[in-house]
Amino acid sequence: MTLSLRINGEAISIDADPLARLSRILREELDLTGLKEGCCEGECGACTVLVNNRPVNSCLMLGFQAQGLDITTVEGLHGSGLLTGLQELFLACGAVQCGYCTPGMMVTAEGLLRTNPFPSVDEIRHALAGNLCRCTGFESIVQAVATEAAQRLQGRT
Ligand code: FES
Ligand code: FES
Repeated sequence: MTLSLRINGEAISIDADPLARLSRILREELDLTGLKEGCCEGECGACTVLVNNRPVNSCLMLGFQAQGLDITTVEGLHGSGLLTGLQELFLACGAVQCGYCTPGMMVTAEGLLRTNPFPSVDEIRHALAGNLCRCTGFESIVQAVATEAAQRLQGRT
């Protein structure tokens, strides 16, 4: 079946199984391998993408369900090819260790900041609750997101 998708601002048509997981289509058909497939049960958040600016576990969405929606992967957060401010802060704050959770964390954080530009620390923790990290202890990730929010409010996007 031909699926009509909108990925990272670009309209595309691909032949794919409409019942395949969106995460699988993105990784294997479109080579968007930033997102990870961890549990494939909606538990870990490694596969998070933005769907109409809201974080969604792409392992729980089927290909046909994604049609007509605006999908953003971690690759779509890149601007000119340089690191985004959020990516730089993840590095600066020590929020990246093995890196497996990092793309999902960044996408979830971006979704939060698009809908709530100045979240409290509790709101950041709540937003990231569906993204598991086995390495960092979360504090550095929360610090990176809070700093990003503050810097955006000060005019750095
Ligand atoms: Fe989708 Fe774990 S792979 S939530
Ligand atoms: Fe390793 Fe988060 S940095 S799981």
